Amino acid sequence: MKTLIVIGGSASPKLSARVSRLLRCRLVRPELKRFPDGELYVRIKADLRRRHVVVVQSTPAPQNDNLMELLLLLHTSSELGARKITAVVPYLAYARQDKRFKPGEAVSLRTVARLVESAGADELITVDIHEEHSLDDFTIPARNLTAMPLLGQYLKRLRLKRPVVIGGDQGSEPRAKMVAQPLGAPYDYLVKHRITPTRVVTKPKKLDVRGHEAIIADDIISTGGTVIEAARILKRQGAARIYAVCTHGVFAHNALKRLQRAGITVVSTDTIEGPTSRVSVAPLVAQALA
Ligand code: R5P
Repeated sequence: MKTLIVIGGSASPKLSARVSRLLRCRLVRPELKRFPDGELYVRIKADLRRRHVVVVQSTPAPQNDNLMELLLLLHTSSELGARKITAVVPYLAYARQDKRFKPGEAVSLRTVARLVESAGADELITVDIHEEHSLDDFTIPARNLTAMPLLGQYLKRLRLKRPVVIGGDQGSEPRAKMVAQPLGAPYDYLVKHRITPTRVVTKPKKLDVRGHEAIIADDIISTGGTVIEAARILKRQGAARIYAVCTHGVFAHNALKRLQRAGITVVSTDTIEGPTSRVSVAPLVAQALA
């Protein structure tokens, strides 16, 4: 008898099904309802005693509802006698507020870490967290997986003629490299070049993108501002077509419409399930659990 059981939260219905299929283990869909006052009701109708329970629940918007559901699923699994509990939270809400940038601010990620741990998680798995070192805030083992090579493999299947992968800044160069490798494409990042003491032009550090399909690689697209600005620069440099690939398609404030209107083809993963989720992180998660 396999001891692994996957519990699929409402923010990750497809991903949890894919993970359980790959692991050939049972998928439990919890019963979820709202009380008349709006509070969340959770019921897990399965025998979890002595099982390794994997709760798959991402936490995109509405972040607080999805987070609360995650906490209820973790704590209930613990009270129902699970032997080990893994929280798979592919998109971890509040991860970008990982420091006290201004005096008095909440370090939100740290609060989330305390909540996840005290709800009963024995380990955490997430994907392309904004800053990997912020996982040090967890006292349980916490692992970060990266979807960048999977995005590169997806792009390879599109058989682009002259792809180049571009990161938005120097910090995103390692991500651009991971997308470029499976494609066998060159990679670069945008940098400000000073032309005269008063004139600065932003362009790729070394590559000429003229006539190429430029792929902007990022961990997250939120408002879309970063990608739209990068696309504008690359088009001005003569790129033939613009793709934007990211792990987390947050798309706040109608960002997806604005990106599409700007002629950008957007590809994301199922860490946040939506119309651009063409790449699944299920193989990564399943491999980490195997
Ligand atoms: C920045 O460091 C990140 O990697 C993303 O580029 C950024 O968070 C994207 O945000 P937005 O889509 O709002 O520009």
